[in-house]
This record gives sequence, C-alpha cells and structure tokens, in this order.
Amino acid sequence: MAKKELQEKIKKGSDDSEQDADGTKLSASKNNDKRTPLYDFFLSGLKDLLYAENKLVDALQEMERAATTEELKDAFEDHHLLTKKHVSRLKKVFEKLGEQEESKECKAIDGLIEEAKEIIKSTEEGSVTRDVGLIIAAQKVEHYEIASYGGLAQIAITLGLEKVADILEKTLQEEEETDESLTDIAESHINPEAEKE
Ligand SMILES: [Fe+2]
Ligand SMILES: [Fe+2]
Repeated sequence: MAKKELQEKIKKGSDDSEQDADGTKLSASKNNDKRTPLYDFFLSGLKDLLYAENKLVDALQEMERAATTEELKDAFEDHHLLTKKHVSRLKKVFEKLGEQEESKECKAIDGLIEEAKEIIKSTEEGSVTRDVGLIIAAQKVEHYEIASYGGLAQIAITLGLEKVADILEKTLQEEEETDESLTDIAESHINPEAEKE
C-alpha cells in the first residue's frame, strides 16, 4: 500500500496496520480517538495474555507427559485444548478492536512455567508427589490468568467494549472452572495418595 494511501486510512481511523516504506510499523489506530492511556494499558494486557496462552499451549503438553496419574494427565490434556481456544478468542478480540495481533513478553508466565519445570526435575518420575506439585504449579498459572482476564474484562466494560468483555469473561469462567477442578483432584485423592509415599 502506498504511504499516502496508508496515511489516508490512518486519518479515517481505519484499523489496519501496515508496514511503512522505511520499515517502521505504523499503527493505523494511533490517531484514532479510542487511544487513551487506559486503552493502551488494556491493549498491552491483551498482548501479554496472548504471549502467555501461546506459551501455555506447549507447557501444558509437557506437564501432561510428566504427570503420573491418568486423572491429572486428562485434566492437563483438556486444559491444553481449552488453552488453544483461549488463543483463538484473544485473536478474535484483536480483530474486533481492529488492532494488529501481537504478543508481548510476559515474564510472570515464563517464571511460572519455569517453576513447573523445576517441580518435574525435583520430583521422582511416576510419583504422586509430582502430581501434587504439578497441580499447585498449574493453579498458580490459573490464578495469574484469572487475575488478568478478570481485570481486563472489567476494563473492557469501562471502555464500553461489551462484546470484547463477553469474550474475555467466557475465558475467565473456563479458567475458574479449571482451577476448581484441580482443587477437587488434589483434595479427593492425589494429596492423600501422596501422603502414603
Ligand atoms: Fe487460558
Ligand atoms: Fe488456563
């Protein structure tokens, strides 16, 4: 697209982003009046979540392979599939906002995934104690996601982006359900079984 044409689009507040002639990324919504510090903060939170969910797609597979009990393996497999859905929902949010889909490094999720790997390294393969650790590691991730989706959904409402808020709340609900079901698994048998080891 010619630079002039692109500038016209920016002026009109179009949502497309294009590569400028000198290689600088131009955000077409830069001049859009929806740009406020709160909107920018919201967008940055979405980029953080996109990074986190993408990392979790792989991490959950690793956790599934490392888990001892079939029940926890199944739980991680289910959440792996849901996480893929969370990635597509976030992509839909970027699309609805007319923003370019982008990830931003999220040190918190990198740290939490690192912690899960440490648990795998420090526990015996085939032990139920490993599952106790993996459940807690997974719940720390869920709590991070719950705080992020919950906060961003509230901001979306404040910004008058109800449809976006609905999408974020759908994922929020699934994260909460996952957290609860992990608690159930731990309390019903994983923890008592680990105590016998
Ligand atoms: Fe998620
Ligand atoms: Fe999750």
